[in-house]
Amino acid sequence: MPRFAHITGWGIAVPEKVLTNNDLAQMVETSDEWIRTRTGIRERHIADEEEYPSTLGARAARDALRMAGLSPRDVEMIIVATSSPDYPFFPATACLVQDMLGAKRAGAFDVMAACTGFIYALSVATALIRTGTVNNALVIGTENLSRIVDWQDRNTCVLFGDAAGAFVLQAAEEPGGVLASALHCDGSAADLLLLPAGGSRQPASEETVRKRMHYIQMNGRAVFRFATRAMAHAVQEVLEKAGLTTEDVTLIIPHQANRRIIEAAAKQLRMPMERFVLNMDRYGNTSTASIPLAAYEAAQQRRLRPGDLVVLVGFGAGMTSGAVLVRWTGPLPRRPRPRREPGLGQRLRSRWQALRQRFQGKQEEKPPAPQTERPSTPEAEGSGQG
Ligand code: COA
Repeated sequence: MPRFAHITGWGIAVPEKVLTNNDLAQMVETSDEWIRTRTGIRERHIADEEEYPSTLGARAARDALRMAGLSPRDVEMIIVATSSPDYPFFPATACLVQDMLGAKRAGAFDVMAACTGFIYALSVATALIRTGTVNNALVIGTENLSRIVDWQDRNTCVLFGDAAGAFVLQAAEEPGGVLASALHCDGSAADLLLLPAGGSRQPASEETVRKRMHYIQMNGRAVFRFATRAMAHAVQEVLEKAGLTTEDVTLIIPHQANRRIIEAAAKQLRMPMERFVLNMDRYGNTSTASIPLAAYEAAQQRRLRPGDLVVLVGFGAGMTSGAVLVRWTGPLPRRPRPRREPGLGQRLRSRWQALRQRFQGKQEEKPPAPQTERPSTPEAEGSGQG
């Protein structure tokens, strides 16, 4: 039987603190007007000192699990996509989330594909489910970009924000869920958007710190050109794979980097802007979290309903790009949970009851009954005796 990977729960976590364009204008030479007209961003959220990608990711995951009706102990795989992991190399942020959730049975790893990370992670989780490796997976996009942004660089600091979003994917035989994906990369353009130091190529040193090399560096215009082409191409490709056209799709949920990038992609796809979900005005570019955050809001506002066909599409450093085609599902009908094994206390109580009954039976029955005391009806067998 073919298996499908349905999106059955979604959740978000957004830090409370808001940083407006006017706040930024106090920090660098910029203005609300410039940021709004060039990017569509009005404000973004900034994590406080005790929030990390792992804590935000775990919050979003709990929210998504509740909707899907799963407990953390049911989770078999956790995939975290992040561009700002808690630790630069290891452990993976997914491992920290696994511990915070108490997801004892789950495997966990990170995907690093920058802002396209959530699309890559969804594709990998879908493959794991469709091949029968796991029955469910948590896919999380989570960021504290405010910690890797240079707050003295107006070219970049106005763009980014912090947040997390999570999807629960579950196996089911009914067709639906993630139906196709298209993943791409052009590594020859890797220098357009990077964080140069702190890796093994340029380990942290006094010099790298002095040169502000631990912050995001970007060639904005070149990224802009790449993004418009890559988004339109990925949408077309994923639809072609499924034998569909843009006419069949209810909504496009794009990575929320810049309103003008989305407008340019919409023009190339000959689709009206009303069919694109936009929320970068309130969150800025939250990298891997932006697509699940936009999907969450669309679902809450009922712009996205069970049965709808949607394309999620992103681009990011690498330069990576990709899209997935999804038949939106929502929580699966609840199946009765399998009975849990009785604990030691319950086993001892049952044994004691059985012994007592046997002893009482022997007292009453004279002569002792032949060995037919154990009734054979299913009801009696399930009664916990014996
Ligand atoms: N406030 C005021 N002026 C700013 C500014 C800011 N925050 N940031 C840049 N400028 C200036 C530039 O210095 C430049 O001045 P100059 O002409 O004197 O050199 C001028 O504005 C125009 O710069 P330009 O790069 O042409 O602007 P743009 O229209 O391309 O917009 C971006 C800049 C960054 C908003 C846009 O290129 C972009 O969004 N690129 C994609 C970035 C992205 O999505 N990155 C994340 C990928 S996941």
